[in-house]
Amino acid sequence: MSVLFVCLGNICRSPLGEGLLRREAEAQGIDLKIDSAGTGNWHAGELPDPRARQVGQQRGCRMDMRARQVRAADFKEFDLIVAMDYTNLRDLQKWTGADPKRIHLASAFDLESERDEVPDPYYGGIEDFESVADQLERVARGILGHLAKNPARKESL
Ligand code: 4NP
Repeated sequence: MSVLFVCLGNICRSPLGEGLLRREAEAQGIDLKIDSAGTGNWHAGELPDPRARQVGQQRGCRMDMRARQVRAADFKEFDLIVAMDYTNLRDLQKWTGADPKRIHLASAFDLESERDEVPDPYYGGIEDFESVADQLERVARGILGHLAKNPARKESL
């Protein structure tokens, strides 16, 4: 089973999603391939934004991943592709060869909040990164709960 988190720059939201799901999966002894990518390429090769690193590291996550752009092979390699907002979702769905069944909004896995989107915190403050991390912790738990209930039905995600 494999999960790819996608946002715009791959330096704020999706690396936090990646780090938090990896932390949770490791804590539960679940073997998952986890990665993240951006729909844009402006930050390719960079570490996450310092605020994302700080918030993730404070929550026990490894935050030394490097940004990259989404590529065609992702749609074959990852069972579940998790978009942070509607723009990311639409951009992913436009890719030739994208499998719409694999692409979902992160909020579909957040069972405790009515918010549809994980908002871009780039122009915000540290409190916006904390709020994003709170959302993505619920998303990580929701993904693991879904997999636990449907271990052999990844196509139903
Ligand atoms: P992310 O945040 O999509 O959560 O990584 C952003 C990071 C950088 C930019 C936009 C969003 N940017 O325009 O450079």
